[in-house]
Amino acid sequence: MGDLFDKFQPLIDQREALLSTGLTDPFNLVMEAVLSPTVAICNGKRTILLGTYNYMGMTFDPDVIAAGKKALDEYGSGTTGSRVLNGTYAGHKACEEALKDFYAMDHAMVFSTGYQANLGIISTIAGKDDYIVLDIDSHASIYDGCALGNANIVPFRHNDVEALEKRLKRIPEGAGKLVILEGVYSMLGDRAPLKEMVAVSKAAGAMVLVDEAHSMGFIGENGRGVAEDEGIIDDVDFIIGTFSKSVGTVGGFCVSNHPKFEILRLVCRPYVFTASLPPSVVATAATSIRKLMHGAAKRAHLWANSQKLHAGLKALGFTLGTDTPQSAIIAVIMPDLEKGAAMWEALLNEGLYVNLARPPATPGNMTLLRCSLCAEHSGEQVDQILGMFAAAGRATNCIA
Ligand SMILES: Cc1ncc(COP(=O)(O)O)c(C=O)c1O
Repeated sequence: MGDLFDKFQPLIDQREALLSTGLTDPFNLVMEAVLSPTVAICNGKRTILLGTYNYMGMTFDPDVIAAGKKALDEYGSGTTGSRVLNGTYAGHKACEEALKDFYAMDHAMVFSTGYQANLGIISTIAGKDDYIVLDIDSHASIYDGCALGNANIVPFRHNDVEALEKRLKRIPEGAGKLVILEGVYSMLGDRAPLKEMVAVSKAAGAMVLVDEAHSMGFIGENGRGVAEDEGIIDDVDFIIGTFSKSVGTVGGFCVSNHPKFEILRLVCRPYVFTASLPPSVVATAATSIRKLMHGAAKRAHLWANSQKLHAGLKALGFTLGTDTPQSAIIAVIMPDLEKGAAMWEALLNEGLYVNLARPPATPGNMTLLRCSLCAEHSGEQVDQILGMFAAAGRATNCIA
């Protein structure tokens, strides 16, 4: 009888080879204590966090924490049920109201994660004989949403407007079309040319879904994302987002102005067949979302730090994922996994945590050290971070 685990052998071998050099396992780090959105204790050492998605630093906001504690006391630890049965509490409705106000949209549907929001919305709205046209570098949850549904899948080259237009023109006349884009792509931190892409999609009669997971809270005048920043949010049919990044907790959502949107609550399996979020989580999310509406000063500070870190890393001689800073994600491209892992460990020893990203999660089989800034990083912390990159880069011969 074949061992079903045989298919994992190449990965097991690669991992064992890496760890046999004495390297700390980059995918098994424990946060022993978390002191603030930007500092934790890892391996007994005070460590600056530069690899979280806590873009707006809401995890320790006193109002957010108070709202969570109050809901825990008043409503208990969990709902033990689906949103369509016993799992919709006043807090879930309040959270959806906060999202509608945040995006100025008619409908909001909260899921248990952003992953499930993509799974659910994509697999439900694009059915048999419909076409999904998506950027080839789309997030795993988007691909998994496509896999769960029955639509025809047509990928196009990353951020290539012409390629998108060509694919759309080849789709049979009269077929349903859904174009899926992301505001910010999480691996390299680059933005989509949404204005052009949405225009081309609408001209072809397609509906458009934009995943703004990495732009919500930060990008756009009101933090609504790249679609807001580019002035085309009214042309977007569905925005997908998550509470696990700028909102600072866990959960996912879809907002839309589609007049028939509410029917999705009855037909979307990853919404119906799973338990709803705990009351404390929706209370923290709603409070955080409402505070993010007034986050202009934080947004400006985060933007200034993103520019400073990008310029500093470039000046040190690192190769970055984008020529200019486009988001709070700054990806440092490493020559290979071995060098990337060595640099990751050297940074950890300096007292800095970043994300090590490697294939298949990365585009073009790249190994990346992904830095993501938080609005709570001080200017001095950014200076410290640059000093740590300089020291670790020289120790590992990544820079001269
Ligand atoms: C673009 C994108 N969409 C969706 C998700 C899923 O979000 P969640 O963590 O809420 O499942 C992520 C998370 O990494 C993401 O990067």
